[in-house]
Amino acid sequence: MVPSVCGIFGCLCDDAPRVLIEGLKRLEYRGYDSVGIALIGSGGIKVIKEKGRIDDFAAGLPNSALAGKVGLGHTRWATHGAPCRENAHPHTDCSGRIAVVHNGVIENFMELKEGLVKRGHVFSSRTDTEVIPHLMEEGIRQGLGLKEAAVSASRRIKGSMAVAAISASEPDRIVCIRRESPLIIGIGYNGVYCSSDIPALLPYTNEVIVVPEETVVVMRRDGISMETLGGSPLEPKPTKIDWDMGMAMKGGYPHFMMKEISEQPLALSNTLKIQRAFLERAAELIGGKAYLTGSGTSYHACLTASYLFSKIAKADIRAVHSSEFQDAVADLKGSTVIGVSQSGETADTLSALKYAKMMGARVVGITNTLGSSITTSSDIYICTQSGPEIGVAATKTFLTQLAALDQLVFAHALARGAISKEEYAGATAQLERLPAAVQSVVDRVGDLKGVAMKYSRRKDAYFLARGINVATALEGALKLKEISYMHAEGYPAGESKHGPISLVEEGFLCVFVAPSDSARGRVIGNMMEMKARGAEIFSIITNGDRELIAISDEYFEVPEVPEYAYPIVCTIPLQAFAYFVAVARGYDPDRPRNLAKSVTVL
Ligand code: F6R
Repeated sequence: MVPSVCGIFGCLCDDAPRVLIEGLKRLEYRGYDSVGIALIGSGGIKVIKEKGRIDDFAAGLPNSALAGKVGLGHTRWATHGAPCRENAHPHTDCSGRIAVVHNGVIENFMELKEGLVKRGHVFSSRTDTEVIPHLMEEGIRQGLGLKEAAVSASRRIKGSMAVAAISASEPDRIVCIRRESPLIIGIGYNGVYCSSDIPALLPYTNEVIVVPEETVVVMRRDGISMETLGGSPLEPKPTKIDWDMGMAMKGGYPHFMMKEISEQPLALSNTLKIQRAFLERAAELIGGKAYLTGSGTSYHACLTASYLFSKIAKADIRAVHSSEFQDAVADLKGSTVIGVSQSGETADTLSALKYAKMMGARVVGITNTLGSSITTSSDIYICTQSGPEIGVAATKTFLTQLAALDQLVFAHALARGAISKEEYAGATAQLERLPAAVQSVVDRVGDLKGVAMKYSRRKDAYFLARGINVATALEGALKLKEISYMHAEGYPAGESKHGPISLVEEGFLCVFVAPSDSARGRVIGNMMEMKARGAEIFSIITNGDRELIAISDEYFEVPEVPEYAYPIVCTIPLQAFAYFVAVARGYDPDRPRNLAKSVTVL
């Protein structure tokens, strides 16, 4: 079970408002830009929602609102629509008799919304979620019950959804639907609950049901019933959870970093659902001259993208460290600067973008944090869909930056005629297969524990690659040094002979990113140079590459993917290697010394 963006919670119990607030507090790590609850009372459904964090929300609740035995709650991490009160969940239909909370991304919401507006529905938010209660309203008007209306709406929706819905007409129940996004049901002595994650349920029960894909659940105070969206009954199978709360917050993993590494397939699949209209507008903005800028890991995403722009779109777009931008770039008039920042608050990146604007450039922002400073200072922005990242070292957010940039590169290549419509469609289809490839890598990262133990006491390591994976090597070195404090340096493998090779002696660790791409042959030459001087080779290779298996002391195989996607699959073993080395050396990978998640000083 891998969590994604936002947290939903629902309950049928005696003191629903208190339980909702407690549940949302435990889910806050999944999103915290706005919060809301809906309660069924004698006068119908009451919705209270606000921008901001749950503690402020709870403190501001009027006492009169705090009654009810059936309710829904939501803590949001904005994906469609800015973080503000109107966009906070729950969302209602036109009559206010249906309320819905949702976690996921609705891909066809524009089209659904247009149809609903034409049929007279009035929307009060800019979210994708709001189409759900309006679609359900139409079903109920045609005589469907709450469950049937929810199933009928789900058939029209493309995308991911964990949804919980209540209706004033059926006040004894909550109806939930699961497709892709996680959903857990808890059955306790004093109530029945639903949640995006197990930790929020643990104070009430340790008997949980992980709702299967494509399922509808009807929750009542006396129990639940489940069926597939096709109408076949399902037997609820409770599991007993013996995690303590700390483990539960980390999804059963010892650290957030490993949890976040394991969340990458879903994060990637959510990011690949970025609305094409945003990509096209951003791709068009990148007209003549353009630059990419970011810091740390985000700079590595920029560097990867600069290779891709050159290889795929035949466009030379320089990647520049944000902290160097003002000194390195002079002629910005009429150009476009693509700023990449997970937090959207990195002072170096914001300052580079401010300078770019002042010098007459347009700004495209790529961030994981809607509502952050980068979104307000960009002409257009693209939001990656990783959900909050708690480990200080960027993992899933890097992968989703790469995916968003891949999409942008292909959209730009199409816009400037470097690829045909057919090639674009082919690339889109290939990208959609990537989450499965990433899952197959994530499933095997535990194999790296032994390799990490073997090398954990080394003093230095080089991370080397050529071409498209140079930035992957730089990222591998950054991950290792920042969390394990082992000295690590990444550079293009062809540079060894210009200096670094003089450090190499018996047992020196060289990590090579060497998948079967167009640079492979040249990388092998560089490996041999290192090996000849006694270096130990740990390489990331494509499945079944016998030649490299024979050369390497240790290796990790990744599946064969198109060349542009190798940075995505090759980064994951490097993240896991750094993680296991840090743990073997006795450090907490979630909290590296001297570092902060968001660097807001220049
Ligand atoms: C490394 C890491 C940092 C950040 C950098 C930029 O694991 O997390 O190098 O990438 O501080 O942060 P954002 O992307 O928030 O601008």
